Amino acid sequence: MKVAVLGAAGGIGQALALLLKIQLPSGSELSLYDIAPVTPGVAVDLSHIPTNVRISGFSGEDATPALEGADIVLISAGVARKPGMDRSDLFNVNAGIVKNLVEQIAQTCPHACIAIITNPVNTTVPIAAEVLKKAGVYDRNKLFGVTALDVIRTSTFVAELKGKKPDEINAPVIGGHSGVTILPLLSQIPGVSFTDEEVAFLTKRIQNAGTEVVEAKAGGGSATLSMGLAAARFGLALTRALLGEQGVVECAYVEGDGEYTRFFAQPLLLGKNGIAQRQPVGPLSPFEQQALDGLLETLNKDIVLGEEFVNR
Ligand code: NAI
Repeated sequence: MKVAVLGAAGGIGQALALLLKIQLPSGSELSLYDIAPVTPGVAVDLSHIPTNVRISGFSGEDATPALEGADIVLISAGVARKPGMDRSDLFNVNAGIVKNLVEQIAQTCPHACIAIITNPVNTTVPIAAEVLKKAGVYDRNKLFGVTALDVIRTSTFVAELKGKKPDEINAPVIGGHSGVTILPLLSQIPGVSFTDEEVAFLTKRIQNAGTEVVEAKAGGGSATLSMGLAAARFGLALTRALLGEQGVVECAYVEGDGEYTRFFAQPLLLGKNGIAQRQPVGPLSPFEQQALDGLLETLNKDIVLGEEFVNR
C-alpha cells in the first residue's frame, strides 16, 4: 500500500504524516509532497521513527515523484482560514491548487483513491471530479471529501455534554462541510436523548467548530492537529478496506446517487475498490429533516461553482 500526502509540510500535513508513519500497516510506503523546500526534511525526520513504513519526501513544482504507484492520495495543500474568513473565501487560491494537483494525479496514478481535505471541500471535490472526467479517468467510487473532523467533533461534544466516553458516541454527519451544510444526525445516537435546546446548541456548535479553532488561534491558522487525526482515521480506514477488511463504514463527501445533491456527505461502506455501497442516511427527526431541506440550495451552489471553475 502506498499513501501520498500532498501539502505534507503544512499544519495538517505534518500531523497526518506522523500518524500515518506510526499507524500504516507494516510494509506500507508513505510519500510526502509540498511546494515548501522543507518537505524532504520532514520525511527524514519521520524516517527515524521505528516503524516498518518506508518514507520519502519531495518538494518543488512537480508532484509526480510522490505520486508514482500511489494507491491513496490525501490532499491538504492550500491556504487555511484566518479570523473573519469563511471557507468559501479560500476558493480563489485553493481551487487552482486542487485542479493542478488532481491533473497530476490523473496523469501519474489515475486509479488511486483521492481524499480531499483542502477547503472549501464542498467545491474542491466537484473540481477534482471534473478534472478527472476531462482526463477520462473519473471513478466516482474513488473520490472523497474528508468530513471525518465533523464526525469526531460530534463524538467529542456529545460525550462532553452527556458525560459519556467519546468512543461510545458515533453519529453520521451528512450534507457538506461548511456552516449549515454540516448536519450531524444526533437522533441516531443509540441510548442518548436530547432536549430541543440541546439539539439546537450541539448542531450549531458542530457547524461552527472550525471557527472556534480559527478564533482561538487568532490568526495562526485553523484546525491542524484534530484534522490530522481525522484525516489519518479516514485514510487508515480506506487502507484497511482496500486491503480487504470487511464492514468498514465511514462518512465522507462523495458523488452520491443524486437523491439530494450531486455530491453529498453520507455513510459509506468501503471496499477493495473504494466505495462499495452508499448507505442511506436513515430516519431523520423533524429538526434534521428541516435542516436537510434547508441546506440543499447552499450545497448545490457550492457544487456548481466547482463544476463551472473547470468547465468555464
Ligand atoms: P497550512 O498552511 O499549514 O499548510 C498548507 C500547505 O500546503 C503548506 O505547507 C503549503 O506549502 C502547501 N501548499 C500550498 N500550495 C501548494 C501546492 N500548489 N502544492 C503543494 N503544496 C502546496 O494549512 P493547513 O492548516 O494544513 O490547512 C490545509 C487545508 O486544509 C486548508 O485549505 C484548510 O482550510 C483545510 N482544512 C480542512 C479541514 C476539513 O475538515 N476538511 C479542516 C481544517 C482545515
